[in-house]
Amino acid sequence: CGIVGFVGREDGDVALDVVMEGLARLEYRGYDSAGVALVCEDEVEVRKRAGKLANLTAEIEAHPLPASRTAIGHTRWATHGGPTDANAHPHRGGTNGKFALIHNGIIENFHALKSELADAGVEFASETDTEVVAQLLAQTYAGDLTKAMRDVVARLEGAFTLLAVHADQPGVVVGARRNSPLVVGLGDGANYLGSDVAAFIGYTRNALELEQDQIVTITPDSVEVIGFDGTPAQGKTFEVTWDAAAAEKGGYDTFMEKEINEQPQAVGDTLLGRTDESGALSLDELRIPEEKLRQVDRITIVACGTAAYAGMVAKYAIEHWTRIPVEVALAHEFRYCDPIVDERTLVVSISQSGETMDTLMAVKHARDLGALTISICNTHGSTIPRESDAVLYTHAGPEIAVASTKAFLAQITACYVLGLYLAQLRGGVHADNAGQVMSELHEVPGKIDQLLHTMGRVREIARFMADTRSVLFLGRQVGFPVAMEGALKLKELAYIHAEGFAAGELKHGPIALIEPGQPVFIVVPGPDTPHGLHGKVVSNIQEIRARGARTLVIAEEGDEAVVPFADEVIRVPHTSPLLQPLLTVVPLQVFALELSTAKGLDVDQPRNLAKSVTVE
Ligand code: G6P
Repeated sequence: CGIVGFVGREDGDVALDVVMEGLARLEYRGYDSAGVALVCEDEVEVRKRAGKLANLTAEIEAHPLPASRTAIGHTRWATHGGPTDANAHPHRGGTNGKFALIHNGIIENFHALKSELADAGVEFASETDTEVVAQLLAQTYAGDLTKAMRDVVARLEGAFTLLAVHADQPGVVVGARRNSPLVVGLGDGANYLGSDVAAFIGYTRNALELEQDQIVTITPDSVEVIGFDGTPAQGKTFEVTWDAAAAEKGGYDTFMEKEINEQPQAVGDTLLGRTDESGALSLDELRIPEEKLRQVDRITIVACGTAAYAGMVAKYAIEHWTRIPVEVALAHEFRYCDPIVDERTLVVSISQSGETMDTLMAVKHARDLGALTISICNTHGSTIPRESDAVLYTHAGPEIAVASTKAFLAQITACYVLGLYLAQLRGGVHADNAGQVMSELHEVPGKIDQLLHTMGRVREIARFMADTRSVLFLGRQVGFPVAMEGALKLKELAYIHAEGFAAGELKHGPIALIEPGQPVFIVVPGPDTPHGLHGKVVSNIQEIRARGARTLVIAEEGDEAVVPFADEVIRVPHTSPLLQPLLTVVPLQVFALELSTAKGLDVDQPRNLAKSVTVE
């Protein structure tokens, strides 16, 4: 869910404008419903609507809000209770209309609290866990919202960000966080709260990080932070390095199209500053003693969704370069497989948002088991880097489209950098090659750029296939996770059944799915890939073509061996085998984008999804 809060000095339209603009920028975090609450005279006014933000805008136009200087707003990704008007936030507490609350996360003990309140005669207007907190807060309130918040959070279990306002305290917004994101924006005569800095980037670049288990009280001229236990605390200030334009569409029809086109820069920026004058890799930012990294004898990568596929690509590369065994675990499965982790295990988490709850919990579990933890993350000030021993930032810039593209490429790039750095640190067979691989990596942004200029035919194919009901994707070695990512993009964006397989596995079952006309994308490794892999994939193409599949082949320029068996050949520039995913995934992203557009779907905000899933 997305959360925004604002307080300014004077009553007017500004508070509503700031919060609505913030919600528009945060809508990617959830878009089942949206709502705002404004402190006005003696009461708090609430407007909320199921569906996208446009519905809320229409509701406010139909029922305008009075002038105010204090507002909170919320855009929801439903957990407890479906996406209805009643379940939308803000929720009121008490009966006098003076109080409103918004919430992100899940209150795990809400059943117990709800029956306690119901026994005391409280009536509920929604099915949400949030309303339970709102009612509890209203009951606890005795003239000091911060104090009431302190008393209430002490009774809550689970993960949450909460923002509350009370009509008797105009010019005050109180926020609290536990395992869920909240940052403060520092303005001049105004202060802001947001799930992330995008909420207030149009107004200020000065921000304040909060720690876990803290409560913040903002007024136009003050920001006060305390721990849940009441001890005064000080947040860490930071400056947001990107400007508002980076979070806008900049002439493209969709954020996703813009982000696909920003991939050369995302890869280039992620490589920047990671080598010293001699060309050796230097990752000072890691702040982990080299000695500890040299002792690592096992690496586990934890991540979800697209980030997990970046991890799978990384496994092939890091194992090859370092000879350290690498395992990739879906973060939500990690804790439950009794993982073999000790102080010589390096647990690398990969997360664009830095807020994915499944990944955060996996990192915490790894730390509890004594592992060394490194976060590969795209979002400064987010939770996972803060909960890790070290962080390697990807520099993809803000990614707004829900389905990940440029962050994926930046994640793979950061994993390569980490793998090469470990290889260099530990010596060994491939250490000497690190410089060579880095210079090849530096050529990749130019190659992606070149590739992006040749996507006309891929777009045509996608438009022809708008009615297709099923698409398969095949790849081997690093092409295997690329195939799975291609399938995921198509599911997410175009709601088409799609599956990615290891091409060698096909004959062991999935080949039964092939019938005449079945479209199959095949990611072909370069002809110079070791162990004759290229030839094996060409054989796999023949096997499915013989059974009637329509073969859409992604192959390197100059690879003529695929031509006789391909219904379509999509060319990518040559690069060394392990780096190929940075190129081969691009046509698959463009294909999904174009097919989704051809179906008239919302590319940036696909149904049922959210960009940052802060529940487990
Ligand atoms: C959500 C998004 C996916 C994303 C995954 C991991 O499910 O819809 O696109 O890959 O989370 O997100 P993260 O922010 O941890 O990279």
